[in-house]
Amino acid sequence: MTDTIQAGPRCGLYLVSAGIGDPDSITVKAQKILRGVDIVFGIPRLLEAFAELLSGKESHPAGHGLFSPLARRDTPEEEVEAMERRTRATIRAAAAAGKTVAVLDYGDAMIFGPQAGYLAEFADLNPIVVPGVSCFNAANAALGRDVTGGRRSRSVILAASADTRDDYGGTDTLDKLAATGSTLVFFTMRGDLPSLVERLARHLPGSTPIAIVAHAGADERQTVLRATLDTVLESTQDAKPPFEHLVYVGDFLG
Ligand SMILES: C[S@@+](CC[C@H](N)C(=O)[O-])C[C@H]1O[C@@H](n2cnc3c(N)ncnc32)[C@H](O)[C@@H]1O
Repeated sequence: MTDTIQAGPRCGLYLVSAGIGDPDSITVKAQKILRGVDIVFGIPRLLEAFAELLSGKESHPAGHGLFSPLARRDTPEEEVEAMERRTRATIRAAAAAGKTVAVLDYGDAMIFGPQAGYLAEFADLNPIVVPGVSCFNAANAALGRDVTGGRRSRSVILAASADTRDDYGGTDTLDKLAATGSTLVFFTMRGDLPSLVERLARHLPGSTPIAIVAHAGADERQTVLRATLDTVLESTQDAKPPFEHLVYVGDFLG
């Protein structure tokens, strides 16, 4: 281990951002931490993308949403519990042996981050979150507009498109979000664009500008589509956007 990791209370676990899009959006600090740890957990795509940096380290699958209800959404409980047991045993054994562990996530791990459950599960290891570039940051850059610079508003709201559904139980319902006039940014997960547009159109004029940024931060694949609520579905020509896309709505785009 050549790099200094962290002064202060001993930390046994790091939740490290790998950045977004191209692998070179990882921060220098995140690289230092990753070089210094003994064991890395990550989804296969990230472990592969950073194979050189992680070479020689013990690596394990991080799962998706472990130690939280997210993992239980699409996977049977027994399967999730078995993976949590294995993960817990590996991390506890590492900590007992004085080793350090990193969980690698992409984007800002604190914005709809699937690996946040590790923080509560291993709170006694004094976990440290190492920040990184979110798809939100990369997509803002792709748009080249100040997202807090609406014609009549100066704020931005990050939301999940699934939480705009009529049966959503939160207090921040779509009609209330739309009424603020803030820039709205939707993390789409596996959401359906036509139904999001249909729900937005119930609360906003058809002339409202909308943009879809796909593969933000990936120089070769990044795309930006600009339209209005009235025209966006025609502009996408019914093509389903990839998993990696954000939807921006607001007059800052106009
Ligand atoms: C589980 S969230 C994770 C977001 C992550 N924590 C971040 O800060 O970038 C996944 C959603 O983020 C968005 N996303 C992830 N990568 C993206 C990219 N490269 N470009 C645009 N949107 C992306 C998509 O809406 C996707 O459904």
